[in-house]
Amino acid sequence: RTVAVVLAGGTGTRLGLGIPKQLLKIAGKPIIEHTLAVFEAAPEIDEIVVLMATGHVADAQQIVDKAGFRKVTKVIEGGDTRNATTRIALDAVGEGDCNILFHDAVRPLVSGRIVRECVNALWTYAAVDVAIPSADTIVQVDEDDCITDIPVRSSLRRGQTPQAFRSGTIREAYRRAENDPHFAATDDCGVVLRYLPGTPIKVIDGSDENIKVTHPVDVHLADKLFQLAAAQAPRVTDERSYTEELTGRTIVVFGG
Ligand code: CTP
Repeated sequence: RTVAVVLAGGTGTRLGLGIPKQLLKIAGKPIIEHTLAVFEAAPEIDEIVVLMATGHVADAQQIVDKAGFRKVTKVIEGGDTRNATTRIALDAVGEGDCNILFHDAVRPLVSGRIVRECVNALWTYAAVDVAIPSADTIVQVDEDDCITDIPVRSSLRRGQTPQAFRSGTIREAYRRAENDPHFAATDDCGVVLRYLPGTPIKVIDGSDENIKVTHPVDVHLADKLFQLAAAQAPRVTDERSYTEELTGRTIVVFGG
């Protein structure tokens, strides 16, 4: 069993809209609906669990119902931090061995190819991350904003999501983190890296399109990327819904 956990527990303070950014409409649909559509269409995914920001669970449920996403089994409230949301998700997924993919709701341009490669990599690795090379040089600074290091760019990657795990691995990492009074929030691969050292975490290639809608400029970018994808989508010729791998992204087109 492979479960996709869609993390939508944040409120999007950096975008500053007054509503959680995952509810913002881009290309005619709320961002989270685009995201859910990718996992709904992915044959590797059996079940989807949605963790939503406080006060907006009903909004998310309504989106799920209206779109008819059949794989979504739970829409529940997230936590105060991303890690807290992950913990709630681990409880919601329930006992029993499975694969779990954690994905940011605000990365609506994730592709079917990325989902597939994450799930395939779990045959060999217990933890999988998605990342892309950095075009920019990354500089490390101190509290006075002075450079302390410039790591070699070829060894750096920019982390995206999904992050995928065998359930036993991510549960054990969080169990150990819970016992650590100094636990500091990181992404989920960071929790495995820190609390289960020695666990190989495979990195698969993400994509430039798999952006995280974070700042206002990202809304324009995402909109443009959806427009481009739609312009290249094949024409609908019958009533059946179908998916098409296009420029690395799975597009779901509903005919009729
Ligand atoms: N997230 C979550 N639970 C939280 C905080 C964040 O599930 N308590 C999710 C967000 O909904 C988002 C993803 O984690 O899909 C990435 O986080 P980020 O882009 O930082 O989202 P926000 O926390 O909403 O944004 P901001 O930091 O600007 O407030």
